[in-house]
Amino acid sequence: MPKETKKAVAMRILVTGGAGFIGSHFLRLLLKRDNATLIVNLDALRYSGNLDNLRDVASHPRYRFVHGDICDAKTVEALIKAHRIDTIANFAAETHVDRSILEPAGFVRTDVIGTAVLLEAARTAGVRRFLQVSTDEVYGDVSTGRSKESDPVAPRSPYAASKAAADLLVQSYFTTYGAQVLITRGSNTFGPNQYPEKFIPLFVTNALEDQALPLYGDGLQQRDWIHVEDHCTGIATVLERGTPGEIYNIGGGCERRNKEVAQAILNILGKPGALIRHVTDRLGHDRRYALNCEKVRTLGWQPQANFEDALKSTVLWYQDNPRWWGKIKSGEFREYYERLYGARLST
Ligand SMILES: NC(=O)c1ccc[n+]([C@@H]2O[C@H](COP(=O)([O-])OP(=O)(O)OC[C@H]3O[C@@H](n4cnc5c(N)ncnc54)[C@H](O)[C@@H]3O)[C@@H](O)[C@H]2O)c1
Repeated sequence: MPKETKKAVAMRILVTGGAGFIGSHFLRLLLKRDNATLIVNLDALRYSGNLDNLRDVASHPRYRFVHGDICDAKTVEALIKAHRIDTIANFAAETHVDRSILEPAGFVRTDVIGTAVLLEAARTAGVRRFLQVSTDEVYGDVSTGRSKESDPVAPRSPYAASKAAADLLVQSYFTTYGAQVLITRGSNTFGPNQYPEKFIPLFVTNALEDQALPLYGDGLQQRDWIHVEDHCTGIATVLERGTPGEIYNIGGGCERRNKEVAQAILNILGKPGALIRHVTDRLGHDRRYALNCEKVRTLGWQPQANFEDALKSTVLWYQDNPRWWGKIKSGEFREYYERLYGARLST
């Protein structure tokens, strides 16, 4: 690689939400990817934020952790200034659709207001690049074909609507101020360190405990799955080579029905199919998401993982790390689980 290109890659980056699932993998990837980037992780350590995800990099000389809220403009402005931040990648969000149905207000606060605070702080401080980590859920239910970046957003849950609102704000900063913004829209992500409220880690850890796997409705909802490492290399590629103002879909190209994934998990663990319990469906549950990823491929990215192998290694990670998820499942999670599934599982 020519010297100039190497220099251009080194950043002083603020990663928000870096103690969560995807953010923690992204931080680790960046630390490995070049030997000059400085990373500041701003995370409010909400229920899904977990410093255990970052134990191996906690004392890395090019990594700093700041405990704080992206909605707090003073904190954000101060740390951009103190660390001479030139790039922001915003992973911080409330991320679980079911929680957004129970309590939508927090999603508007963090996902919309928080993004607005970051954008404004970035603009006033002259931050060079801003990448917003978004989701395929903003396109809404896609019964046929695959969503393209030029498709209109049609979110159907408070989570998806908050993320779509944030995307529109980010785009407005490009049009209005010429800010160098990028948006990635990733598909359903899985891998180690995912909070066990989400489909795959919930089903794996329930199966490991011989508990019922609560499958919504007929279980025929279809998702495009991507392994977390592929999602992170996609985000890094867009950050390095994407065109400002543009949106990039990042999908794994592995479409599977929820029921198939549940059965595959049980097969890997050698557990009986009878653990699957069909329960009352999620309100407004989207049947299918699917992404057209031709645009990000033009940047030279493509997913590496094979779904079956990556699912197996993910299942085995949870099997080998019961302390990681055991701690979570005995805390706040219990109350949430009872609220969401208690009545569903008792009928
Ligand atoms: N998980 C997926 O399948 C998926 C798919 C596509 C896109 N995304 C997007 O990727 C991003 C990361 O998702 P994830 O699955 O890692 O979520 P996560 O819930 O594991 O992590 C979110 C992190 O954000 C932090 N956070 C929440 N509110 C905050 C606030 N106000 N200020 C600072 N930090 C705050 C949390 O403490 C946590 O560490 C999100 O923006 C999400 O919308 C996720």
